[in-house]
Amino acid sequence: MHSLHLSHTDKAKRYQELLPQIESVISGETNLIANLANTAAILKEAFGWFWVGFYLVEQENQELVLAPFQGPLACTRIPYGRGVCGQAWSRGETIVVEDVNQHPDHIACSSLSQSEIVVPLFDSDGHCYGVLDVDDDKLAQFDGTDACYLNELADILSRHAMK
Ligand code: SME
Repeated sequence: MHSLHLSHTDKAKRYQELLPQIESVISGETNLIANLANTAAILKEAFGWFWVGFYLVEQENQELVLAPFQGPLACTRIPYGRGVCGQAWSRGETIVVEDVNQHPDHIACSSLSQSEIVVPLFDSDGHCYGVLDVDDDKLAQFDGTDACYLNELADILSRHAMK
C-alpha cells in the first residue's frame, strides 16, 4: 500500500476520524504492548506510511528498544540522544524531518526512508517512556498537522496504555 497524498484538510479530517477509533480500541485493554501493536496497525492501514511504530525506553542501558511496529525490519536499539528518535527522547520534543538525507544524525534503518516524524511519549509523571516514529518513502510527508494529531495520539496512549 502506498502512502496517500492528502491535503492538509483531508489529513486533519482523517486524524479526527481515526483518533476516537484508536481510543475506543485501546480503552478496553491496559497492556501497553497490545495497545501499541494495534495503534501501529491502525495507522499503517489508514495512512499507508512506509514504517510506523514504537521504541520504548530501557532505563538501565539508556537506550530505546524496538517495540510494536508495521513495515520493514528496523534497528533494534538506539542510544540516548542518537538519531532522530534518540534526539526526540533527549529533548522531549517532536521532531519533523523533511529530508532524512540532509539530517546530520539520522539513523537509516532503510535507504528507502525519505522523511520522518518522531513524537515522544510521556507517562503521567512527565517521564518519556518511548517514542512514536513514522517514516515515509517520499520527501516532506510530515508537517505541523501530523505533529499536532500525533501528539494528541500520544496523550491518548498515555491515558489508556500506562495503567
Ligand atoms: N530513523 C530513526 C531510526 C528508526 S527507523 O527509522 C525505524 C532515527 O534516526 O532515529
